[in-house]
Parts: sequence; structure tokens; C-alpha cells
Amino acid sequence: MTMKIMIGKDYADMSRKAAHVVSATVTLHPDCVLGLATGSTPIGMYQQLIKWYEAGDLSFETVQSVNLDEYVGLGAESDQSYRYFMNENLFNHININPTHTSVPNGLAADISAECERYDRHIDELGGVDLQVLGIGNNGHIGFNEPSEVFEKRTNHVHLAQKTIEANARFFTSIDEVPKSAVTMGIKSIMQAKAILLLASGEGKKEIMEAALFGPITPKVPASILQLHPNLIVAGDEAALSLVTKNHPELF
Ligand code: GLP
Repeated sequence: MTMKIMIGKDYADMSRKAAHVVSATVTLHPDCVLGLATGSTPIGMYQQLIKWYEAGDLSFETVQSVNLDEYVGLGAESDQSYRYFMNENLFNHININPTHTSVPNGLAADISAECERYDRHIDELGGVDLQVLGIGNNGHIGFNEPSEVFEKRTNHVHLAQKTIEANARFFTSIDEVPKSAVTMGIKSIMQAKAILLLASGEGKKEIMEAALFGPITPKVPASILQLHPNLIVAGDEAALSLVTKNHPELF
């Protein structure tokens, strides 16, 4: 098994453990390409990285970043866009060069051209060194929703009703949640040299068990991560409670 599972006793502990992995990557490879994620889960990890930057322990001066996804129809000015989220939760507080940060353009007039441009950009950077991922309740990664096939390339996806409902908590009403998004595909994610999958809270325990130990199927997109040669999982005890219960031999 090439999967490494780190268990934090709570969210703060898990976030620090995850931040150590990012910090090690940036320290060893100052010009690395970080694949970054949004959602509530990575926020604590970003806060820890900001603290280390402020303390002078970490520099992002030559780091490049590519984000997983963006809502179609939302731009940097919208406080629900993922570009806005990244600026607010990380980029504005560290010394990353803004021109080194990429998030798909949800306002592009031609979304399929934008998908192609995004893939070309990732290729030009030489791929992702460390890809940070959260996980949706239905097993989505980025916005790769449960499907009949694994979408390889950056693509325009219609969000699952479950995802729209889960993400409604960030909007004033469910009607404001965009119905579609641009997401990096499974190929770019799987070609990352290392993957750091984060999960927190009781609500993620079933999907974590299914993703890490269930059948590998596009119906649970995160299950493909079982095939990655360098998968690091950082979860808190609640999110990993079924994993630790069902696979005690690993701990
Ligand atoms: C969104 C994002 C995903 C994220 C997921 C989980 O749908 N597109 O990248 O992993 O939500 O979010 P949370 O971390 O808030 O549970």
C-alpha cells in the first residue's frame, strides 16, 4: 500500500499535519507547482501556512499554483467565487506572485476554450507537484462529480443536486448556487507527483471509507486515488473513524 494516512486528533491538529506536508514540499522545491483546493476543509491548513510565512519560516516567492475548479458565471469580484476564496484565504497573506496563481476563469465567454487553455497551462508548468484535495460528500474531487466515466481533462460540469445543496451554506439562498463549474480533470489530478487529501468531521466518515477502500469507480470519483503512487491522507479522528475501525491493521 502506497497510501500514508495521518490522523489529527481534531481539525486544528489535522490542519497542522497537512500544512507540514505543503511546507516540506515548498521548502525542498521552492519553485514547485502546488495544486490547491477550496471548500471549508483546507482553510485551517492555509491559516497555518500563513503563520509560518509571517514568522519567516516559509517563502512562496517562486511557487506556482493551479486551483482545481471555479463556478461558471462567477468572477474574482464575487465573494462566492473560488478566485475570491483563494485571494482571501491564502494569496493575499503570503508572498506568492499573483501572476503565478491560476484559477479557471468562470467568466470566460467560451468555456470549452477555457478548459483547453487551463490544461495547456498545467502542461506548460510541467504538471502539479503536490495536489491538495478536499472531498465532497458524494466523493467528488474538484468538481468531478459521480459519473459513468472518469473525465480526464479539464471540463465543464453540471453540479450534482447533492453538491448544490451542500454548497448552499456559502450562499444566501440555494438558488444562487451556480449550476455548473469548470474543474480540472482526473488525469491532471492523478498525474500530480503527490496528492494530499484532506477530510474533517463525522459527515465525511462513510465517503472516506468508500473512497479509500471501496471499489474503484467513477461513481465515487475519489476512489481513483487508491491507484496513486503517492497519496497522503490527512484527516481528523471523526472523518477517519470508519477507516480506523474497519482497517485496524493499518494503525
Ligand atoms: C466543493 C469543492 C471541492 C471540495 C468540496 C468539499 O464542492 N469544489 O473541491 O473538496 O466542496 O467541501 P468542504 O471542504 O467544505 O467539505
